[in-house]
Amino acid sequence: MKTLLLTHPLPAKGFADAVHAIDPQLPLLEYRPGLADAELADVVAALGWRFPDGVAARLPRLSWVCSIGAGVDKLLVPELPAQVQVSRIVDAEQADGIAQFVALMALRHARDLPAYEALQRARQWTRQPIGALRCHVGVLGMGAMGSAVARLLQAVGFQVSGYSRHSGQSLQAVLGDSDILVCALPLTPQTEGLLDARAFAAMPRGSYLINIARGAHVVEADLIDAVRSGHLAGAALDVQRREPLPADDPLWDVPCISITPHIAAQSSPQTIALQFVQGWRCLQRGEAPHNRVDRERGY
Ligand code: GLV
Repeated sequence: MKTLLLTHPLPAKGFADAVHAIDPQLPLLEYRPGLADAELADVVAALGWRFPDGVAARLPRLSWVCSIGAGVDKLLVPELPAQVQVSRIVDAEQADGIAQFVALMALRHARDLPAYEALQRARQWTRQPIGALRCHVGVLGMGAMGSAVARLLQAVGFQVSGYSRHSGQSLQAVLGDSDILVCALPLTPQTEGLLDARAFAAMPRGSYLINIARGAHVVEADLIDAVRSGHLAGAALDVQRREPLPADDPLWDVPCISITPHIAAQSSPQTIALQFVQGWRCLQRGEAPHNRVDRERGY
């Protein structure tokens, strides 16, 4: 009975060390291409981020998949048998980190920092009129991440509206009201490509997008058009459809789009290990692990 580590592109060693610091006997197997079926035959759990192609179908005894992140989209592969339970890490520190990153990017935009940086490069000391922060922020997705984002943005002076499936508001109304739009949605078939030309057209002229969820929420070609045409002021994308973002991707060349390599916040290996070992012990007792996701819903 062992656990397969699927942490790539993060090195598995940090996770294995953190798990073994809590339970030195817990059997772990680091995934590598070329593992034989015989080595996978007694894998009952998987801890990681994404299934490499075809691997889920080669785990006949798999009963639990634990995501090392908040999102489970890359683990819900079609070949995952229906009875396999899927859970995720729920980490208030990660949510706080995400909220800090969003606040940083929202304030950077709202306080015109890029313009002052350009002035500095030109050695120009020029004061512009400074108004009170009157930006309205729409937060799409009010789960653990979105709620933390909304709280912190409110605390630093933004007016915030949250949107979720159950908020009763129409998406179009939230988009139309958002000087800054934050995407904190889970990636599901319903939310993939939600931020497209139509959504950007519904946002006010000069508005700004911050995406800390998944790159596939955004139709990137439409975003580039919306920014290049001047309808959107820009975007901060911590996530992209293709990660790592290839050097020739057109997103790199749009001056008002900030690209960061999916670093807004991660749970520490220690937090992940603690929650994983708790889940493992539940599994041994025949109980369901905590923080299970609804596989139908996708989060
Ligand atoms: C990171 O992207 C996560 O899902 O936690």
